[in-house]
Amino acid sequence: MGEQRKHIILNGFMGVGKSRVGRHLAATLNRPFVDTDALVEQRTGSTIRELFDTRGEAFFRERERDVCREVFGEQTPSIISTGGGALMHPVLLEEARRSGWVVFLQSAPQTILQRVKSNRKRPLLDIEPQGDYEQALLRHIENMLKERQTMYLKSHFTIQRDGMEAEETARMILEYISLLDKEFITQS
Ligand code: S3P
Repeated sequence: MGEQRKHIILNGFMGVGKSRVGRHLAATLNRPFVDTDALVEQRTGSTIRELFDTRGEAFFRERERDVCREVFGEQTPSIISTGGGALMHPVLLEEARRSGWVVFLQSAPQTILQRVKSNRKRPLLDIEPQGDYEQALLRHIENMLKERQTMYLKSHFTIQRDGMEAEETARMILEYISLLDKEFITQS
């Protein structure tokens, strides 16, 4: 497989644990870990929330695209955790699929809710605080997931990770990839 598909690229909704799983993969394979959100923040000197609030989502998406293209094109095989909306862009998804194994990490909406409900760093999960907040947020998550599911499923494969620790999830990802690409693990 040589130069192709050298990275592992984690795809999936906010709060599914892409970064945690990614860090385990990176430690296991002794490869660099890259988080595209963190890189956007580093490059712009602003938090994701500040970017959404002051420059708007479209500006953030452009920066996110630039950063993704840069890391997908890196020669060093890396573990890349993408923001939950990054690979909604079909061209970028195709670029991701060419440069790495794209893994869709899937969790149930309830699990996602528990992970994101008390963290205010994700502007797309802001909802009007009326009625039962958790119920409203759950519905919002379900709707977003419905809209995004088709694109997420264009990843190379899906791992359903409810009830599975990050370490075990990472192990399962490596098992899948070694079935699909016998040389992947030994490539440097
Ligand atoms: C987003 C996901 C976030 C971040 C931004 C938008 C999305 O990343 O990129 O808030 O559109 O799903 P995480 O998936 O790492 O939370």
